[in-house]
Formats: sequence, C-alpha cells, structure tokens
Amino acid sequence: MILRFRVRAVIVYDRPRDSDGKREGVNTISVGRLHGRDPINADETNADETGAGGTSASWSGPACRENRKGDTGDLHRTLSEPVWNSILKTSVGEGKLDYELYLRTQELLSLQSAVDDLISPDELMFQIVHQAQELWLKLATHELAEVVGDLEREMFWEASARLDRVARIFGSLRQELGVLETLTPDSYQVIRRHLGNGSGQESPGYSRVRLAAEHVSGALDLVVERRMVSVRGVYESSDAGHPDLKRIFELLVDVDEAYQMWLVAHFMLVRRTIGVSRRTSALDGVSTQVLTGRMTQPLFRRLWKVREEMTTTWDRGGGYTPGVPRTGGPRR
Ligand code: HEM
Repeated sequence: MILRFRVRAVIVYDRPRDSDGKREGVNTISVGRLHGRDPINADETNADETGAGGTSASWSGPACRENRKGDTGDLHRTLSEPVWNSILKTSVGEGKLDYELYLRTQELLSLQSAVDDLISPDELMFQIVHQAQELWLKLATHELAEVVGDLEREMFWEASARLDRVARIFGSLRQELGVLETLTPDSYQVIRRHLGNGSGQESPGYSRVRLAAEHVSGALDLVVERRMVSVRGVYESSDAGHPDLKRIFELLVDVDEAYQMWLVAHFMLVRRTIGVSRRTSALDGVSTQVLTGRMTQPLFRRLWKVREEMTTTWDRGGGYTPGVPRTGGPRR
C-alpha cells in the first residue's frame, strides 16, 4: 500500500500543468494497478469508447528512479507474469492464445537468463541482442538458399526481391549493434567473465550465411556459363545484353556491402568495448587486430574483382581533356 501511494504521488508532482491547470499526461495508474492488470489500456482518463488509446505508465520518470535505488526484483517478477488485457478481456502471457502459440512466445521469452540469474542489469540486453542477431542471420541464410533456387530456374524477379530483403536484413543487423554499443567497457568486463572462451567465429549464423553465399556464387557461375558471357561481359555489354543479370549482380553487391557494413559496425563495437590492438586478445586468445583484415572480406569476391579489373585495364583513350570544348559529341 505504501509503495502504491508513493508512486502515485510522485508521478503527479513531476508533470507540468496544462492551461486548464491539470497535470499534462498525468497517468493515474498506480504500481498496484499496473502489476498483473493492464498497463497498456489501464488509463481510463485517456481511453476512447472502444477502450483503446490509454497511455502506459512512464518508467523513465521518477517511479523508475525510485525503483533503481531499491531492489527491483519484485517489479521484474511481476512484469513477467500474465497481464490482464481489457480489450481482449483475457489474460495475456500464459502462452495459451493463438498469437502466443503460433510464435511460441512462452518458449522464446524463456530463452534468456531469469532476472535473478543475471550477472548485471545489462546482461539481458547483451543476451537479447546476440540472440536477435542469430535469428536475423538465420533468416538471411534461408533467403539466400531460396535465391540459389531462383537463380537455377532463372527467376530473376524473385531472386532480386529476395536479395533486396537480405540487404535490408544486414541493415537491421548493423542497426541492432547500436543497442549493444550502449554497453560501457566496465560493464562488459563483468559480463565477459561469464562467457568462457566463446568466440564470434562460433556463431552458427555467421558460418551459415557465408556457406549460403558460396552456394549463391556457384548458382551465379552456372547462369553466367549458360549465357556464355563473362561477369565483365555482363557489365560491358550494350543494353541488348544482359540487363536482368546485371541487376542481379548489383543487388548481390548491395547484399555484400550491407554484410561488410555489419562487420565494420561490429569492429567499432569491439573497439569501444574491449579495444583493438595487436596486444588486446579476444576470449579465445586471438588478437582483436585480426578483425581489421577480416571485416572487409566479401561474400561475392568475383563481383568486386571485376571492378578492379575494369579499372586496371582502363585507359584514357578517347576522353576529353578537362576544359576543352566537347565538340565531337559523347564519347564512351
Ligand atoms: C560487446 C560485444 C562483442 C564483443 C566485445 C565482441 C568481440 C569480438 C572479438 C574480439 C572478435 C575477434 C576474435 C574472435 O573471433 O573471437 C569477434 C569476432 C566475431 N564476432 Fe563479436 N563481439 C561482440 C558482439 C558480437 C555480436 C552481437 C555478434 C553477432 C553475431 C558477433 C559476431 C562475431 C563474429 C561473426 C565474429 C567473427 C568475425 C571474423 O572473424 O571476421 N559479435 N567478436
């Protein structure tokens, strides 16, 4: 009861008044009501007739500060219990509803350490980001396997749509590392004691993505062979050449670039958490310096090689000198 009164009072005093003298966005929900009831739709003062539109209590406000001072164990436990949803008029979080059954939320949400087992409050974030990365890598691998089939059947629209998706997945992977970047070095040094000799190379998602990309490269080689053209020929042939294939090549470069950008972001993450130098070792004893060379190793080497070839065999022949009138029309 005491906690209930205190939190209600703090929320009210912290908010400014609006022109009617009412507290702006005041949420009259108490912790007592929040626990096990309906935090999302609980605020009747803001709810419309359908019961939607209620605001949730703000945990970045004083209530949160209050809790940080003390033991939040009870609050964490309560927040992991089933919650009453007033729109559905049922309890959510028991794993019995269709949404929960289809997504296996009960199982999914128990794949992280229980609050009482966490080494530090940051460890849950550390685990969830890593697990989410593995899920995205699983999806990228799946999509790349489908691309192999699309290329074998010369279904280029399908292949291009999937490659676009894979590039976006790597974009997500990269963005997500930004969450992990909020881990300060001191906090990571604590978590690190509990990771054994784990190495990033042990990530199944990483190895599978690379393997799937090898299969895509193989399928691409076969398409190029069937068309009796070289990779360079695809780039240099006229419009009547192989625009469909050229598009696929460029999408593969998009995927590869997004993949490498993910590894570059990972490098920056490593640099700011444990540092990168020849003398700084990973848990498996490997120097962190190895990352500098590895992060730009591409998935589709041939598509990067062709760029180098085109530049090294390029000559100035036929080009206009800068500043000279271009009288002879376009020269290509
Ligand atoms: C604070 C967080 C992290 C730290 C300090 C860290 C540190 C490192 C270090 C030192 C290496 C190089 C040595 C080795 O292979 O063990 C490495 C490699 C690697 N890490 Fe991480 N990592 C972190 C997060 C992640 C995350 C979230 C992923 C996502 C799956 C990941 C995936 C990888 C992969 C795939 C490699 C191998 C890359 C290569 O060898 O080119 N790491 N990590």
